[in-house]
Amino acid sequence: MKLVTPLGVGTAIWLSASLADASAQDLNVLCGVDEAWCQSMEAAFEEKTGFEVSTKRKSTGEILDQIRAESEDPRTDVWWGGTGDTHLQAVAEDLLEPYRSYNEDDVLPWAQNFYLMSGGMSAGVYAGALGFSYNSEILSEHGVSAPSCWKDLTDPQYRGLIRMANPNSSGTAYTTLATLVQLLGEDEAFNYLTALSRNISEFTTSGAAPVKAAARGETGIGISFIHDAVTQKATGVPLVIVAPCEGTGYEIGAVSIVRGARNMEAARQFVDFSLSPAGQATGAASGQNQIPSNAKAALPPAAPDISLIRMVDYDFATFGSPDQRRRLLERFNGEVLQNAEPVTMN
Ligand code: F6P
Repeated sequence: MKLVTPLGVGTAIWLSASLADASAQDLNVLCGVDEAWCQSMEAAFEEKTGFEVSTKRKSTGEILDQIRAESEDPRTDVWWGGTGDTHLQAVAEDLLEPYRSYNEDDVLPWAQNFYLMSGGMSAGVYAGALGFSYNSEILSEHGVSAPSCWKDLTDPQYRGLIRMANPNSSGTAYTTLATLVQLLGEDEAFNYLTALSRNISEFTTSGAAPVKAAARGETGIGISFIHDAVTQKATGVPLVIVAPCEGTGYEIGAVSIVRGARNMEAARQFVDFSLSPAGQATGAASGQNQIPSNAKAALPPAAPDISLIRMVDYDFATFGSPDQRRRLLERFNGEVLQNAEPVTMN
């Protein structure tokens, strides 16, 4: 009553109509990739199958939180996109439904391994390496040199010039945290992140936001996946993309069906489509540059060649485990976020 009264009768009628609309959807998808890809995938799947899809873009950690919160009464059918280690966490929390798409027969070995690692609950859709990029005009305006290694980013010359995402919400930033732990060892990684935080102007919610800000000239350096930087650079901005000299980590982006999904048949068809060459082509069609998992899918023309990048042997099982994730995030919140005093670029 309290909610309805101040809004008036007309609003109450509108509210009940919109709730009815929501339940009339044939499929509810939480989407972890870029908004442009969420939309093109929705349109292509609707056109192929005739299902009506409701898609909402969120960051990976936010999706996990939502699926966990809905677990007694799931509203979401499919979690599509976002970093795979967070899907593995959902597996460990018994939030997902097993499904093997016939397209699993055609996926590359890294995606086959991911599917096996998930116990048949989650499938690898794409891969991409982590890095950072800088706006060369902004760096020269500030008279600072160009960084090429992770260690460079803690140099005080970059005070206020760097953005990264918050690993509590962002899969990109959780991958950054896990990568640094694997590269440097845990204590050294936290020393590094504490030093880095002195140069950070903002911890963003979404993982691609830092590189988008660098592309717009709102920050000098953005830590993000390299494929998101490639997408921004293609718009003609003065962005230089760096694969850090020490080596870097990578993601396997995944798709999963939510345990107890209300629209199971449509959910299975969505997973099939997301693993098919046609479904994976919606990425390149919307300007995205991840590496598709299906061996028969075309590589986006500008996709970075990750075989040229020095890569850590990323341990998805360890960093996708709930205990490890919870512990690392608590440590990050206590040691890095709590003491961070974001400084703005001037
Ligand atoms: O923008 C696309 C993308 O980088 C995906 O490759 C990745 O899985 C996802 O975003 C991660 O987003 P976030 O860091 O916001 O969770």
